[in-house]
Amino acid sequence: MPVVKQTLLTGLNHNLERVQPSAIRAFDNEVSTIPSILKLTLGEPDFNVPEHIKQAAVRSILENDSHYAASNGTMAVRKAATHFLKDRYDVTYDAASEIIVTVGATEAIYTVLTSLLNEGDKVILPTPIFPLYIPITLVGGGEPVFIDTSSNDFVLSPEMLKQTIKTHGDSIKAIVLNFPSNPTGVTYSAQEIKALADVLRDTNIVIISDEIYSELTYETTHVSMAQYLPEQTIILNGVSKSHAMTGYRIGFLAAPAELVTKLSLIHQFTITTANNTAMAAAAEALGTEAGRQDTLAMKAAYQERRDFVYQTMINLGFTIPRPAGAFYIFAKIPAGYHQDDFEFARDLAVKNKLAVVPGSAFGPGGEGYIRLSYAASLATLQDAMSRLNDYLKDNRQA
Ligand SMILES: Cc1ncc(COP(=O)(O)O)c(C=O)c1O
Repeated sequence: MPVVKQTLLTGLNHNLERVQPSAIRAFDNEVSTIPSILKLTLGEPDFNVPEHIKQAAVRSILENDSHYAASNGTMAVRKAATHFLKDRYDVTYDAASEIIVTVGATEAIYTVLTSLLNEGDKVILPTPIFPLYIPITLVGGGEPVFIDTSSNDFVLSPEMLKQTIKTHGDSIKAIVLNFPSNPTGVTYSAQEIKALADVLRDTNIVIISDEIYSELTYETTHVSMAQYLPEQTIILNGVSKSHAMTGYRIGFLAAPAELVTKLSLIHQFTITTANNTAMAAAAEALGTEAGRQDTLAMKAAYQERRDFVYQTMINLGFTIPRPAGAFYIFAKIPAGYHQDDFEFARDLAVKNKLAVVPGSAFGPGGEGYIRLSYAASLATLQDAMSRLNDYLKDNRQA
């Protein structure tokens, strides 16, 4: 095995020194070694990919769909993405010039942030938040500006936003909004989105609107930021969550054409184009009525699971913002137990073999919380709740 020449290590991209490995992955790896651990750690749908979508992938292979596609994605999947956005959220995009198909929403986040940021540019991140935006901002030379939303039921208010803009001024390049939210499940109403759009309209801030959980919105209808401020918004979405297709690695971004032309540079120099077979499957998922029905069926199952886990955990003494979308519960650890979320999660994993994610992995405002994913069968969730109940019964501190 080669051992690197040590002096090479000092010359790497200096921004890498500011980045830590993912705390969620690290914690997941740590608890995965515990025998018979039940894990509700990762945001991974437990459903299989629907049959007609698999068949679209099989057809793509059999029909020798094996050559480089256009860099921004096949026209079939771009058209399916524009159909999806129009049909569900009444926002209009041109398939030829305003969509880039990416390798999961993850690549869309990378493409957008590295395209936008110059050294020292600031990115507003309302927290607790899906942590991936932080290392990518740092690698891109940017600075995250956290706004802790925990005091406002995990919703960014226009006042908080105004205050942050006043403090940081023109150094702010972008804001990330993610709703429904990972990790809280909280989403924004049309009025709340409109109020944020009203604050941002007079600025040069780009809104990176990560709407990957839009289809998993329960009692209300999801409203896209692009309905209010399309000229400043980059929508991120994809099939990972809506169609249980995390392993296919297909996401997309939608933005005004002139922005897309620029974003497309980083995209094509990084990945050339997404995988043809996965794009064929995603076109079927996003572009057909059967694909719409798939999500409705999964959503009904998630909703039943959410109701069960939410109610059980409330009865056990947790305080939880009511999750209106996605598939996470973000729960405040009750008094009388380890209040440090890492200690609580570690102790629960070791003693009762239930793995959840410590809330501080999601940034300021997450301390003292745990996140669990209810994208698991009802039987698994029942088992999980019984392990949690046993842990709380046996570990109350005096
Ligand atoms: C808010 C959010 N955005 C993006 C992603 C990444 O999605 P993908 O698997 O399509 O890369 C996730 C995955 O957990 C997520 O929760």
